[in-house]
Amino acid sequence: MNAPIGVFDSGIGGLSVLQALQAALPLEHFVYLDDSAYAPYGERDDAHVVNRSRAITTYLRQAHGIKALVIACNTATMAAVALLRAEHPDLPIVGVEPGLKPAAAASHTKHVGVIGTRGTVTSAKFKALRTSLQDQATFVVQPCDGLADAISRSVETQDDSKIIALCADYTCAMGQFGLNPGEIDTLVLGCTHYVFAQAHLEQLVGPQVRILSTGEPVARRTRQLLEAGGLLHSGPGGLQLLTTGEAAVLQAAAQRWLGLPAQHGAQAAHVHIDSSPAL
Ligand code: DGL
Repeated sequence: MNAPIGVFDSGIGGLSVLQALQAALPLEHFVYLDDSAYAPYGERDDAHVVNRSRAITTYLRQAHGIKALVIACNTATMAAVALLRAEHPDLPIVGVEPGLKPAAAASHTKHVGVIGTRGTVTSAKFKALRTSLQDQATFVVQPCDGLADAISRSVETQDDSKIIALCADYTCAMGQFGLNPGEIDTLVLGCTHYVFAQAHLEQLVGPQVRILSTGEPVARRTRQLLEAGGLLHSGPGGLQLLTTGEAAVLQAAAQRWLGLPAQHGAQAAHVHIDSSPAL
């Protein structure tokens, strides 16, 4: 089916999911929506995240006729996926959530670290997930205020020092990383932005610690849903980059992290999307 797949995040973090989607579905057309004028989501209340998620979904359907939606944001998935599915029963919707289950299975020490936004790790959905796995591993959960924002800002400043300082503080607060009994041997990236800090995190926790993100499983799930619904497109693939913030920042992030060459890369454009009225 020749309609695009919508992908959204509060900002540039979802580009890490888009990268996995493009690799798994190279013949599809994607519309990526970065909501940075209303970010960060992770330190705002649920009502804000729900209203933005509803407004963006409606916009992507009305203006772009999307055939499926990927919520490339843990915070928005936690707050809004159930409501979006109820409001759009005919639209396949895939969300991202911290990979606690694969992490518990992969861990030998059964001590798993989880970093995410405050919104994600304090959500009812996250707490239910953690409780459902409590006999499989000990989870050391750390909200990382300011980290997604620092990653976004680094695109313009080209300076990662704030990211490194925050990652050092937060990993230090979590305890000992390593392969010895009682140490954290697996770290879950519970925010799509954090994938872009992975190299710094690796330096801090050591090469023996496994770091898990969710782009690839989300891409696989999206492919399955499209196949099951007879919705796969036979190409050519494409990409449209949209932002409620500054187009130049999204463009630079896509060049830095998706490796889009300037001359061939999709040109990012600014869009205005009013928030949905409060529920
Ligand atoms: N990238 C988002 C996530 O996966 C949130 C970043 C933010 O706080 O806006 O949770």
